[in-house]
Amino acid sequence: MDMKRFLMMLVLAKGAGVFAQSRVNIVPKPVTVNELQGDFTISPSTKLVVDSKGLDSDAAYFNDYLQQFYGFKLPLAAKGSKGAIVLSSGKIKGKYEGAYHLNISTKAVKIEGDNATGVFYALQSLIQLLPVPTGGPAMASGATGSFGALNVPCAHIEDEPRFAYRGLHLDVGRHFFGPAFIKKYLDLMSHYKYNTFHWHLTEDQGWRIEIKRYPLLTQVGSQRKETMIAKDFNPYQGDGTPYGGFYTQDEIRDIVKYASALHITIIPEIEMPGHSVAALAAYPYLGCTGGPYEVDTKWGVMDDIYCAGNDSVFTFVENVLDEVMNLFPSKYIHIGGDEAPKTRWKTCPKCQKRIHDLGLKDEEGLQSYFIGRIEKYLNSKGRSIIGWDEILEGGLAPNATVMSWRGEEGGIAAAQQQHNVVMTPGKWLYFDHYQADPKTEPLAIGGFLPVDTVYSYEPQSAKLTEDQKGYVIGAQGNVWTEYIATTDYCEYMVYPRALALSEVLWTPKEQKNYADFLTRAKTQQEKLLKLWNVHYAPQIFQ
Ligand code: ACM
Ligand code: ZN
Repeated sequence: MDMKRFLMMLVLAKGAGVFAQSRVNIVPKPVTVNELQGDFTISPSTKLVVDSKGLDSDAAYFNDYLQQFYGFKLPLAAKGSKGAIVLSSGKIKGKYEGAYHLNISTKAVKIEGDNATGVFYALQSLIQLLPVPTGGPAMASGATGSFGALNVPCAHIEDEPRFAYRGLHLDVGRHFFGPAFIKKYLDLMSHYKYNTFHWHLTEDQGWRIEIKRYPLLTQVGSQRKETMIAKDFNPYQGDGTPYGGFYTQDEIRDIVKYASALHITIIPEIEMPGHSVAALAAYPYLGCTGGPYEVDTKWGVMDDIYCAGNDSVFTFVENVLDEVMNLFPSKYIHIGGDEAPKTRWKTCPKCQKRIHDLGLKDEEGLQSYFIGRIEKYLNSKGRSIIGWDEILEGGLAPNATVMSWRGEEGGIAAAQQQHNVVMTPGKWLYFDHYQADPKTEPLAIGGFLPVDTVYSYEPQSAKLTEDQKGYVIGAQGNVWTEYIATTDYCEYMVYPRALALSEVLWTPKEQKNYADFLTRAKTQQEKLLKLWNVHYAPQIFQ
């Protein structure tokens, strides 16, 4: 066969998908990958060179990863060392933070990041290229050199994120997940280049963050006397078992620091004016009726919310937020705003007096006043608010970012008003929904969200103009835990759907391809999920 015919056959074979499997199976798919011949071999004597300031913690991260899963660390060496993995930053720049070049030749691995974040993401891509020990997490206790030489395929990768905000959320109010699991959640997020963890810390069924000034928030508010048995909602049936838990401020500081080393920002959510029954149970003066209240034992939307006519409620909320801001350096503070029935406000003399005195239109106007007053306070401290899309009702606070959850409509309306938007619509991004036939699945809240539906999501709605699309800063998967009581089930609901979303958030739209995603997932990602001891849902790998 002549050369021309042979090359033509190769082209056809590649087009038909019968070409040799790619050796680069990274998720999220990088912007450009040029696969090259040969391998670079990482062994315990391979040197690690930190060639720019501010990368020591990223080098240490990579070494800790090698130690944990392969049983060795690389010696740090001076610039100019031969055969090394070289980390440097500052010479390239992408549209958003996190751009990197990863150049793997048979002789060296060269990493160039926009800054430490880009270098960290290059290391995450390199981690996904390492051969995966089949022993799984048992390797963690492996002796030095037990996995002596790691071959990674030569390639030139240039990469950067599509969106600035790449989020996962976790509700620790309905069920509490301790610090060790939160760290694992963050570890996994960082492998898939997520940069924002939305930590939903307060709920009707539990207040989970220690606030020094108000000790009853955790002494009373973090405990419920029992939990409804999910299948017996009507009539109500409780399990008779007390349930509780909270994070101390020391634990929170430790987790915030841990996240920062993974280049993840934590946005705390303190819910207001609704979903606040646990706080009312602790301090009944915060409610319209004065109580008494009990930390809720059943799921749903509760009529008892903070009183918007009582100035001491604002003093309380501001004092709580002071401590929250001390713990969390994030630009954004999430103030909730969703599912706040106006039942109590309609009959509360204080709330009605406020509406009358300020000439507000109605109770929606009062909610808008509540959120606006808190926004002003947080803005005065240099922070910005994010709220669920209900904060549009009665008028949006001037600088608020909207999290669109009931659909995309709230996000579209906010972008049209030139407000930033994070898309989290239930139909595509609620990871508490079923991902397979409910008959074959553990009990979930409802819905149906298989992995391919997550993958198909496009955050920048076609209903927006090009300018308005720029206000959609990203998207997020939400993990509500009414029916998620264990860490294993939580991982099952998040993985692999979080892999699909990572590609929505990172990979250029025109390069997304579900069949290709599935191939990479099956070839490499399932092995990694096993290595990382993730209790993932198996369907797409079968
Ligand atoms: C929500 O799911 N209530 C924001
Ligand atoms: Zn009131």
